[in-house]
Amino acid sequence: MNPLGRYHIEREDILRGFAPKKVVALTGAGISVASGISPFRGPGGLWEKYDPEEVANIENFRRNPRSSWVMLKEVLEVVEKALPNSAHLSLARMEKKGFISSVITQNIDGLHQKAGNKTVIEYHGNTTRLVCLSCSALFSYREIDLGSLPPYCPACGGVLKPDAVFFGEPIPKAALLQAHAEAQQCRVMLVIGTSGMVQPAAGLPFLAKKNGARIIEVNPERSYLTSSVTDIFLQGKAEEILPIIDEWLNG
Ligand code: APR
Repeated sequence: MNPLGRYHIEREDILRGFAPKKVVALTGAGISVASGISPFRGPGGLWEKYDPEEVANIENFRRNPRSSWVMLKEVLEVVEKALPNSAHLSLARMEKKGFISSVITQNIDGLHQKAGNKTVIEYHGNTTRLVCLSCSALFSYREIDLGSLPPYCPACGGVLKPDAVFFGEPIPKAALLQAHAEAQQCRVMLVIGTSGMVQPAAGLPFLAKKNGARIIEVNPERSYLTSSVTDIFLQGKAEEILPIIDEWLNG
């Protein structure tokens, strides 16, 4: 029986182009939903509860870091406890089998690394690393007392901010360049759990396609990418669909 038969798609349709090191995964918040982390948009999303312009904009953070930190502390507490789900674990196995060359993630939760992926490009940084806005020193959030907010740098007294990309901040240069190169060299891009609304990440599937890649999208809902760039749309949950693809790679 073909578990993806309801899409009228055969194993061969999906696995075409799956060559060693030629598959790149681009992930968004949807892949971590089954790990208990809320997405940003849609029902129950973080941006329903908080105004992103207020709490996740760098200018506002500089003016009023405390108000952002109330949300950030809540996110950190959830992220700290979260475990990778079957979608993260499938991608880790696909890398181990040699197919996946990298995971480009917009997520700041570190779950791909926890699952065992070795090449993870953190396009939007990581929230468990804190950076001092004055001296640029880096700390693990575990080293810092979050009892009173905002936390301050133990070295120079500057305000600490999660080392995640806020609205109004550039993508870290190394991640930008690496993701660009990966998108250009892949033959298949798996686009998983992203609404495709935030640039420049949403441009990566277009770059991959321009260079000859097939775009396979996994999402329970249609996204901004579905009718513009996606070749195969698997309308379902990442934690259900990715284990099937991984299993198919066993032969
Ligand atoms: N499996 C796969 N996809 C899912 C699942 C699931 N179980 N549940 C929800 N989704 C999909 C939703 O349908 C939606 O398209 O995940 C997507 C989540 O979209 P967003 O919340 O917009 O997350 P993302 O695309 O990662 O956001 C991009 O926006 O605010 C910024 O910096 C933040 O990195 C983030 C960026």
